[in-house]
Amino acid sequence: MNLKIAVLAGDGIGPEIMDQALKVTRAVCKRFNHEATFTEAITGACAIDAVGDPYPPETHQVCMAADAVLFGAIGHPKYDNNPNAPIRPEQGLLRMRKQLGLYGNIRPVMTFPSLIHKSPLRADLVEGADFVCIRELTGGMYFGRPQGRSEDGNTAYDTCVYTREEIERILHLAYRFARQRRKKLTVVDKANVIATSRLWRQIAQEMAPQYPDIETDYLFVDNAAMRIIQWPRSFDVLVTENLFGDILTDEASVITGSLGMLPSASIGIHTSLFEPIHGSYPQAAGKNIANPVAMILSAALMFEYAFNLHEEGAAIRQAVNASLEAGIVTEEIAEGGKAYTTSEVGDWVSEYIDSKKK
Ligand code: IPM
Ligand code: MN
Repeated sequence: MNLKIAVLAGDGIGPEIMDQALKVTRAVCKRFNHEATFTEAITGACAIDAVGDPYPPETHQVCMAADAVLFGAIGHPKYDNNPNAPIRPEQGLLRMRKQLGLYGNIRPVMTFPSLIHKSPLRADLVEGADFVCIRELTGGMYFGRPQGRSEDGNTAYDTCVYTREEIERILHLAYRFARQRRKKLTVVDKANVIATSRLWRQIAQEMAPQYPDIETDYLFVDNAAMRIIQWPRSFDVLVTENLFGDILTDEASVITGSLGMLPSASIGIHTSLFEPIHGSYPQAAGKNIANPVAMILSAALMFEYAFNLHEEGAAIRQAVNASLEAGIVTEEIAEGGKAYTTSEVGDWVSEYIDSKKK
């Protein structure tokens, strides 16, 4: 198979973790006899610096022409404390999601047995936790208009909008995931207060009978935030709107012990995109210390979701598990023990994949 992959490394640690994911992707292609073509394009703060646009039209064309997009991270501290910056790197990410129609963001939350002791939660609560958060990614308050300020600058407003069509398509996606897993779907909303949430719940209740094999339950988002910490094993597939999903997935990601471990897939109308959950970690940029595992596991999701190549995805996951068990970990996990560099972890994982070639 010939795989056409767009490579958007972005800012901060983006380029160095991307290098590792590309090494691993090449190793998988070699082992399973695939051809891969990589096309690089700019996005984020580096694209603002280069051409004044965080998601230039040329980058969009590269993404549209590819079969999958691998995305590193975007963001730069010079924008974080300037609420009035006219152009921000994050706008690039939002436009990319909208223009590629990436309405479904899939964030698997899994534990790694050799890292359980790093979790802020008690091991007996975390062990065996394995769920998927499905976040709606192109609607809600992130995109609703009007958004802005009153003329005197002293009042600000956002608008949360969801249409029936947007809610139905993400719920169908979530039900399909639940069907392939443990057949339980939790719909998370704030239907006791918010109008869009009441529409979500109404539509979910209308759709549930179409999926009689799936157990559907409903949680208010505040309660869900609590349950994720108190009883993470109780979830199988969780589906929610854009802003709630943003917040709950950061919370869920630390259950594993490090934010540097979790990948995500964004799927929808055009080319699918694969990126780590974490951000651009500017303090570590260029130091070869950042954890590349979330980026490497994003490549695993790419093989599975974009190319339907499940053995290839599993090979990456197996190699990552082996690296963790062998203690080949970056400094935030190593604590007192030996810390490996970003590129050493990438080398180890790709050599492991290589060594299994028949
Ligand atoms: C994420 C990020 C983005 C979001 C930011 C960088 C715009 O936090 O992917 O979760 O809020 O969606
Ligand atoms: Mn986020």
